[in-house]
Amino acid sequence: MLKAVILIGGPLKGTRFRPLSLDIAKPLFPVAGLPMIQHHIEACIKIPELKEILLLGYYPAVDLAQFVMEMVQEYKINIRYLQEFTALGTGGGMYHFRDQIRSGNPELFFVMNGDVCASFPLEEMLEFHRNKGESAVMTVMATEATRQQAPHYGCIVRDKDNSAITHYVEKPSTFVSTLINCGVYVCSLEIFQIMASIFNRNQQEYYNDNMTNGTKESGYIQLEREVLSPLAGTGRAFVYPTTTWWSQLKSAGSAIYANRHYLQLYRTHHPKRLATDAATTVIGDVYIDSSATIHPTAVIGPNVSIGPGANIGPGVRIRESIILQDAQILEHTLVLHSIVGRGVRIGAWARVEGTPCDPNPNKPFAKMDNPPLFNNDGRLNPSITILGCSVTVPAEVILLNSIVLPYKELTRSFKNEIIL
Ligand code: GDD
Repeated sequence: MLKAVILIGGPLKGTRFRPLSLDIAKPLFPVAGLPMIQHHIEACIKIPELKEILLLGYYPAVDLAQFVMEMVQEYKINIRYLQEFTALGTGGGMYHFRDQIRSGNPELFFVMNGDVCASFPLEEMLEFHRNKGESAVMTVMATEATRQQAPHYGCIVRDKDNSAITHYVEKPSTFVSTLINCGVYVCSLEIFQIMASIFNRNQQEYYNDNMTNGTKESGYIQLEREVLSPLAGTGRAFVYPTTTWWSQLKSAGSAIYANRHYLQLYRTHHPKRLATDAATTVIGDVYIDSSATIHPTAVIGPNVSIGPGANIGPGVRIRESIILQDAQILEHTLVLHSIVGRGVRIGAWARVEGTPCDPNPNKPFAKMDNPPLFNNDGRLNPSITILGCSVTVPAEVILLNSIVLPYKELTRSFKNEIIL
């Protein structure tokens, strides 16, 4: 029997996802029509031996309750949300809830960062890990990055012959390797013995410091720095390199990029999810919720997802964008490289346009950059345009590279601005 743990963080994480994370927990933000972490769940349920999925985070349980209920109904497997009493780090929650993970004595369990997107080759990874024998404690999925970008990730050095991790540095300050940690692991239960000694050592330090150990909570453990780094060189941690699609999903801009790739994966894995309705003009890969209304003269795609209850008027043109639930886009409006929030209303003949921040296609292995919001002149760096929930955009305005916070009623055009 196998299990999976998905690390979803909490409200203090995901700030780069604002204003979209203001009205919905970031892990539930829909990408290609499904909440971000439902793609993880779908990858897990492909493995027949996998019997339980535990979501670990510090969001209030109420934020996840309905999602969990829907997932259990849809996939008919055990899915539970376990709430950390405070942010316990990427390893602390796992250790805190170790009894829940260990119950039923799973042979192995997956750990997946909730803020990555990928084609998740879990079966292959599992087979790879099993082939490493009983003493293997952990296998890390890894991918190539550019020399410049690699230090923003966990960097791995491996033994070329047996793929054992010989050296691991989390976000190194100097170059270590271009092989980076994808935040997807296979672990054996033995990892909890290793974590126990880390936990006890940390507790000792915490009490020695009179419980004022900086901002670290008691029980806080960083999986990468405190568990994976020391395991490197012991012959018990391995790396599974993949060349399949993988990206972080940290910023709203990366949601547009992830949307495109998940839609592309639907072509092979879930072709029925892609819009083919003869009454709508669809170009390329498009997801349209069955309860959305699209006027027959609108042209949608490529790489667009339209959420439930959305209403798209005559002559509207949408490309490379995510339109959320109940948004209304009136006639002849153009939406390009943008995220239109829940309940947004865009008037007729408007133009809502952003600038994509995709990885450089000319650089092999380039990942998405997460540029700072503002440049040196205090202006917003060109980015996708984001309309927070229930924003109203009047007819005939142009919104370019702008971020609009929820409930704003705009009265004019904006370019490169955050409208607070
Ligand atoms: N349950 C829980 N509790 N989850 C957490 C916590 C916590 O206290 N802190 C972070 N997470 C979750 C986040 O929501 C995210 O899904 C994942 O753990 C990693 O979060 P970060 O701490 O932001 O790490 P990172 O994304 O900068 O780096 C990690 O991922 C990279 C790949 O995306 C590292 O594992 C890197 O080595 C790796 O390259």
